[in-house]
Amino acid sequence: MGRLSGKVAVVTGGVSGIALGIVEMYVDEGAKVIVADIQAHKGAAIEGRFPGSVFFSACDIRNEDDIARTMAMAEEKFGGLDIVVHAAASVDHKEKIVDLTTQAWDDGQANLLRSHVMCIKHAVAPMERRGGGSVILVSSAAAENFSPAASMVYVVCKGAVLYLARWAAFELAGNKVRVNAIVPGAYATSMWGQLVGASTDVADVMPAHLDEMMSGSQPLPVAGKPMDIAYAATFLGSDESRFVTGTQLAVDGGLSVFRPAVPREKVMAYLEEAKAQAEQELQRAE
Ligand SMILES: NC(=O)c1ccc[n+]([C@@H]2O[C@H](COP(=O)([O-])OP(=O)(O)OC[C@H]3O[C@@H](n4cnc5c(N)ncnc54)[C@H](O)[C@@H]3O)[C@@H](O)[C@H]2O)c1
Repeated sequence: MGRLSGKVAVVTGGVSGIALGIVEMYVDEGAKVIVADIQAHKGAAIEGRFPGSVFFSACDIRNEDDIARTMAMAEEKFGGLDIVVHAAASVDHKEKIVDLTTQAWDDGQANLLRSHVMCIKHAVAPMERRGGGSVILVSSAAAENFSPAASMVYVVCKGAVLYLARWAAFELAGNKVRVNAIVPGAYATSMWGQLVGASTDVADVMPAHLDEMMSGSQPLPVAGKPMDIAYAATFLGSDESRFVTGTQLAVDGGLSVFRPAVPREKVMAYLEEAKAQAEQELQRAE
């Protein structure tokens, strides 16, 4: 029997990167999963990969109605909701404080912070109907140990997510809804492509060219893999963590202890090189 047998999860951002690794492990461990993502064109593929175990919800996490509909879908398709992993996010928020417009802030925080509040809000009632549940918010090591590649909006919102997990754990303990945060370090995912303006197709190929950068990004000299986060998300989603709430679990190879000093220019040069390699790879494949 899997560690998540009988459980139903919503995983946002689940067609790509870290959250895709979580979907794979959750299905392996016996869970049924609603994958929610803005990349609707990838929905059929993920449902086809896990027939009967995964349904796709086209969802923009900035839209409360989309989030409410996604949580309701878990009950409609699988009869309940036990786990929410909110991992969807974008990093295309580059503004510095002196250049920030109200619109840019509102859009950034809607994606990176308000969506977390809304995921919790709409998870509570269905989880209560199951006698409780587990919400897992994905923050970032950049929130506590600033990364040269990160932006103010990203860092500030990811920091607030850590406090939100604590507050929500306190507010919802009586509802038997646990809320915890996972704090990833650096992972080779499509997200990095956004920092160098890569198209989605190119960004999706870039992770294969980022291993060297990732293995030098933290004290442990290896690249973290989505599977590493998936193990943490499996623990926090399962009954093994029934007495764990309001905590944050860093899965970062020691990045929260020490971030090697790599200048922003070097990071950007590395990303540009990975982008060029990914573009060549796609051209060869055509
Ligand atoms: N990759 C890293 O180094 C790293 C480090 C720290 C934290 N994180 C966090 O991990 C999480 C997963 O990121 P990833 O690295 O796997 O990136 P990724 O780009 O591979 O995945 C992010 C997913 O979120 C989806 N998404 C973006 N905006 C959305 C929206 N408005 N509505 C719905 N879906 C949307 C994307 O389509 C994508 O599938 C994010 O919260 C990210 O901040 C990543």
